[in-house]
Amino acid sequence: MKPKVFVTRKLPDSAAQRLNQVCQADIWQGKLPPPKVEIIQRTRGRDGLLCLLTDPIDREVLDGIGSSLKVISNCAVGYDNIDVDEATRRGIPVGNTPGILTDTTADFAFSLLMSAARRVAEADRYVRDGKWQTWELTLLLGRDIHNATIGIVGFGRIGQAVARRAAGFGMQILYHDPGMKADPLAAELNASYVELDELFRRSDFVSLHVPLNDETHHLIDQEALEKMKKEAILINTSRGGVVDTDALYQALVQGQIAYAALDVTEPEPIPVNHPILARDNVILAPHIASASRETRGRMAMMAVENLVAGLEGEPLPNCVNPQVYNRD
Ligand code: GLV
Repeated sequence: MKPKVFVTRKLPDSAAQRLNQVCQADIWQGKLPPPKVEIIQRTRGRDGLLCLLTDPIDREVLDGIGSSLKVISNCAVGYDNIDVDEATRRGIPVGNTPGILTDTTADFAFSLLMSAARRVAEADRYVRDGKWQTWELTLLLGRDIHNATIGIVGFGRIGQAVARRAAGFGMQILYHDPGMKADPLAAELNASYVELDELFRRSDFVSLHVPLNDETHHLIDQEALEKMKKEAILINTSRGGVVDTDALYQALVQGQIAYAALDVTEPEPIPVNHPILARDNVILAPHIASASRETRGRMAMMAVENLVAGLEGEPLPNCVNPQVYNRD
């Protein structure tokens, strides 16, 4: 008998085929995430759960599902939606999808950086609104990217991939990462490790690449924003909760920083009547940094492979809590 799993959203074809070869899958057909109660009821008694970053898998959900669950596979590199400590306590391995989305995400972070610097979204609106009358010397003046200083907060895979792009554009690179002061790539790219305050003070662009956890929640708050240059542009492709949205809104209104380009927000989705949406110096995207056809297909396949490994009692190819394998 095939193992039984609940999958919280439809998957791309190749991943769905692989899933169906191995599992008896109940797949949520909705566009919106299943409510918690559905996750609980439909996973209860099943062996595996494949979920997305929009699905909170907390203690209540794990309690509700009960002891049948052998594996949780998150189709995302970030896993702040899952209470990993609770899963570990129950001996449940949790999978994620690192690596394969690094370059796609860095591409998008850089797209946001360039779009904000050169006011691409504003320019598009200007033309569509019929405001374009003639070539003007001072129309929609933006900021140069070459020779500017970028401060990369979080120098993991994605932060480093952004650094490579920045180096290609002739930027000065500063980085901060508590776990990584001297990185060989930093030397290669002439990137300097600095403390956060110095990064905020010196950067023309601040790009965020940290996971969301207790230490990084609202890392960018009023105090941090006050330390940044008035001309600074903030780019967030990490998690919305890393930035205090209200403090950011105030900073943009008061001219404490110049611009923000946000792929992620808190809350998510950001309500359409949130005042930040009315600002010209903000570019927003609906959490799509990893959304290339190829990468999303690979992420889904990797999530299925993690799930399958867990069902077969094998170590997950990408496991965020490998300590489950070393329990007495
Ligand atoms: C997307 O945000 C991811 O964590 O994969």
